[in-house]
Amino acid sequence: MERLDLDMVILNAAELLTLEGASHTPKIKDNLNELGIIEKGGVAIRGNQILAVDSTKNIKRLVKPGSRPQIVDAKNKTVMPGFIDSHTHLAFAGSREHEFVQKIQGKSYMEILESGGGINVTVNATRKASKNTLVRLTQPTLSRMLEYGTTTVEGKSGYGLETNHEIKQLLALRDLNLIHPIEIVPTFMGAHVVPIKYKNKPDDYVKLVTEKMIPNVAKRGLAEFCDVFAEKGVFDIEQSRKILQAGKHHGLRPKVHADEMTTLGGAELAAEVGAVSADHLLKVSNQGIKSLAEKQIVAVLLPATALVLMKKEYAPARTLIKAGVPVALATDYNPNCMTESMQLVLTLACLNMRMTPAEAISAATINAAHAINRSHLVGSLEPNKQADILIMDVPNHAQIPYHFGVNLVHKVIKAGKVVFSTR
Ligand code: NIG
Ligand code: FE
Repeated sequence: MERLDLDMVILNAAELLTLEGASHTPKIKDNLNELGIIEKGGVAIRGNQILAVDSTKNIKRLVKPGSRPQIVDAKNKTVMPGFIDSHTHLAFAGSREHEFVQKIQGKSYMEILESGGGINVTVNATRKASKNTLVRLTQPTLSRMLEYGTTTVEGKSGYGLETNHEIKQLLALRDLNLIHPIEIVPTFMGAHVVPIKYKNKPDDYVKLVTEKMIPNVAKRGLAEFCDVFAEKGVFDIEQSRKILQAGKHHGLRPKVHADEMTTLGGAELAAEVGAVSADHLLKVSNQGIKSLAEKQIVAVLLPATALVLMKKEYAPARTLIKAGVPVALATDYNPNCMTESMQLVLTLACLNMRMTPAEAISAATINAAHAINRSHLVGSLEPNKQADILIMDVPNHAQIPYHFGVNLVHKVIKAGKVVFSTR
């Protein structure tokens, strides 16, 4: 056996969740329950890469005599890939706790939005902030995400709604990506809402997005994806299609906020344009589910949003899984849904969408990696993948959603380096 010069070894994991074998195609159906568990498992790491994943005994044997890797003891703990939060709205200014109270008192999210609140409030605050202010305001958010186990996060613009302000938000994400250990995958979402100025001429705004913003963002390499809020009273299917096709034309892969409040056909549109994901889906139709399954488009479910919208019905996770749609989970972190915790999302997915703990973990790791085109790099613990690893302070994976409302993370390893540790 070849002995290896290693920088770090993780040993003695009670359960090591590899999530192996799904880097090429996402997990669907029964396979979502397969976590590739190694009991008493270990991981061998050099630089930022995983070299081997095996039993502790075999990992110990790999170490070259004389080499002194950092030893991380994971006794009684669960070792798993870092969470991938594949849907967030990052880098904004201001907060909206007043709307939290309005919602408690009975106002709906769409009522608040239509009366000029909601996203519009955050747009006003974000336009007033400089890029550096956005960076400063977002840093603690990213640190909280990392401490709660998120090692890769997707972040959307969409609180500028003017070319220069959209670009400012994306530049803030680019700067944050350079200074923070978490990896940020940027999405352009100029089509988040029709700005108040364009209220009576939404098609003019669509034109601005497709003819000015998208080419600009793409030319500067500031985003990988283009997202749109396809919703009754926001962007209709035809407008959404134009926006996503313009994005595609400029190399931005489509994503869709689909069928969240109303059954509009967002899932069908996602399938039609070959989106990388369709997100929300509380009101997805049977035809929409069929289309997503046929095209194997990742359904990113956001149960924390359903929680803050105080919905009785969550996205139909069981139906989606049964139909063979690859399901992922994300926080949807935004001023309406203020949580950085993928652990909370897992608990909500289990209790309110009846996903099993194993399904939820698959959805928050390897399938989430597929939702942001990173499955070749992260989302599972396999040789040649990036060493993005969590040591969770629980003896088995089911305790991750079961023990909730607290942070169960013991250590976070990002690209081979310990970036957070409880002691
Ligand atoms: O995904 N639905 C639209 N966009 C966000 C909310 C953004 C906001 O309220 O600021 C979402 O829930
Ligand atoms: Fe969202």
